[in-house]
Amino acid sequence: MTKPHSEIDVLLNEQRTFKPPTAFADAAHVNDQTPYDQAALDREAYWENWARELDWFEPWQRVLEWNPPFAKWFVGGKLNAAHNCLDRHLDTIGDKQALIWEGEPGDTRTFTYRELHSEVSRFANALKALGVAKGDRVAIYLPMIPEAVIAMLACARIGAPHSVVFGGFSPQSLHDRIEDAHAKCVITADGGYRRGTVIPLKASTDAAIVGLDFVSTVVVVQRGAATDIGAAPHGEAIEIPSCEMQAGRDHWYHEIVAAASADCPPESMDSEDLLYLLYTSGTTGNPKGVMHTTGGYMTQVAATAKWVFDLKDDDVFWCTADVGWVTGHSYIVYGPLANGATVFMYEGGPDWPDRGRFWELVERYGTTIFYTAPTAIRAFMKWGDQWPAKYDLSCIRLLGSVGEPINPEAWIWYNKTIGHERCPIIDTWWQTETGGMMLTPLPGATTTKPGSVTFGFPGIDATILDEEGQPAESGYLAITTPWPAMLRGIWGDEARYRETYWSKWPDIYFPGDGARIDKDGYLWIMGRVDDVLNVAGHRIGTMEVESALVDHPAVAEAAVVGRADDIKGQAVAAFVSVVEGIETTDELREEIRSHVATQIGAIARPADLIFAAELPKTRSGKIMRRLLRDVAEGRALGDTTTLADPAVVQGLQQQYADSEG
Ligand code: WT7
Repeated sequence: MTKPHSEIDVLLNEQRTFKPPTAFADAAHVNDQTPYDQAALDREAYWENWARELDWFEPWQRVLEWNPPFAKWFVGGKLNAAHNCLDRHLDTIGDKQALIWEGEPGDTRTFTYRELHSEVSRFANALKALGVAKGDRVAIYLPMIPEAVIAMLACARIGAPHSVVFGGFSPQSLHDRIEDAHAKCVITADGGYRRGTVIPLKASTDAAIVGLDFVSTVVVVQRGAATDIGAAPHGEAIEIPSCEMQAGRDHWYHEIVAAASADCPPESMDSEDLLYLLYTSGTTGNPKGVMHTTGGYMTQVAATAKWVFDLKDDDVFWCTADVGWVTGHSYIVYGPLANGATVFMYEGGPDWPDRGRFWELVERYGTTIFYTAPTAIRAFMKWGDQWPAKYDLSCIRLLGSVGEPINPEAWIWYNKTIGHERCPIIDTWWQTETGGMMLTPLPGATTTKPGSVTFGFPGIDATILDEEGQPAESGYLAITTPWPAMLRGIWGDEARYRETYWSKWPDIYFPGDGARIDKDGYLWIMGRVDDVLNVAGHRIGTMEVESALVDHPAVAEAAVVGRADDIKGQAVAAFVSVVEGIETTDELREEIRSHVATQIGAIARPADLIFAAELPKTRSGKIMRRLLRDVAEGRALGDTTTLADPAVVQGLQQQYADSEG
């Protein structure tokens, strides 16, 4: 990313415009007013119009009940999320492709809406037969295979909230999440493929549920049961080792589904019934279970998927996120399927067997909408233009970005090299907690600026405030009114819900991001202002990593900060002091780094680990993370006057320099 600044400045000042998509002309409730005007005039009526696009078993009595910080949307309404994603499409687009999937070895599977409906219904019946009932939480720990989508929708169908856990998380992380949600059923697989290796998910599940006696049922998908991996283009060498099945507890997915009926009427769910829990990292303690309910969530993800992706009948939509993150929940599963779109899903990473894999998939499947994270875009840039240049990408008509701030250089490269300067780029800001997109351009309607998320989606009220809650040009991002897909709480921890999001200003949501607004009213996200790191678009709490570090017997004290990284946005930098008498060797450093990966997952492995004789502290004993960030990013030290012992941090700077050389 070393383009001459003049070129970027020129491009930054260039204001792109795109023709409005037909979605805007079509939408019955948009007449001669812009959707922004409509929403501003009557926000509740505006969202109510979106809710009407879903199928409801019973109508709502009130659009919104707002008792800060608790919101209820479409109060009294009854619906089912899976019914809205599947059943209601059967008469019109039953034979349209709902899901097109490719595994990393190159094996493929496709499902029409009718086929997906039947598979989901069978699995829903099988879950019921295993004793899973409405309200029971079900943990899902799967690779990126169709059964992940099927399992989520089967849970939604019978009203059992799912808790999807990213397959890259460790057994310990899975354990913590199953325990917190008290999930009695876990759905996993014998394995999945990632960069030519097998991820043994069932073995991890077995380790995770040791001591959790309330887990009575484990359903195991045989990854290779539906396809011939050996015959797939990249499948020659890899086979998934057989896994142990515990009689009475463990069941093969393909066996229970084969025995189940495909007739499973969807459960009638209250608009405010829990649809799912999704755990995410915060500033303190363990990951928190973010609660999403049914009516408001479905309304917002369906609305945003329709307008922001400007969905058309013949689109092939590819969101590269894992279903273990909220992006996968909202924009692989619920949003696109509620709109009757064709979703493409891929199991593996972008660089296996080579760095052209994604572009080869785009060409072969005719991807029209491509939604990925800035980290991936920066990696593509680094790998070189020769990879995308090998393939015909003219099928793509819209490009999206999500998960972290996109730097203008990456935006411009994406626009040029992938979009050939003819695709709108939508940079979408949102969070696990917001459920759906919040700040985003509308393709065709919004003039974009590289690096800016532009404006709130119509019906979303965002602003910049200072510490005191006064409007500011640069400060904290704030959401001033409730929105349909907002989290309804933290599972089992109301105090934490109030404290984390609603304690900075009265009745205003604090997302934890810094932001600024420019003279044209465009919003620019500056990154997290709390102790949450964003590494490659994944959220990691500094406290979680610190706990994993001090869990190692050799570690006495640890402090973790995020340092800037060219590709991943941020990288984990750990400062560690060891127990007296222990030698600080390179082997120990590697062992401690691996310990974090084993405890949390590979995404949390520190990029840098610096042994420190002492950590810089204030005279009251507080670790000064700000100074550690200065050290990790090689900057001159900021104010050190409050330090108990300024020599400590100077010593660290030297050690950091040595370790890098
Ligand atoms: C945090 C939320 C949105 C789903 C994936 C991440 C950062 C997200 C953007 C963006 C700048 C962004 C924020 C936010 N973030 N999108 N377009 N521009 N920053 O969900 O794991 O809950 O993380 O990701 O810092 O708070 P998440």
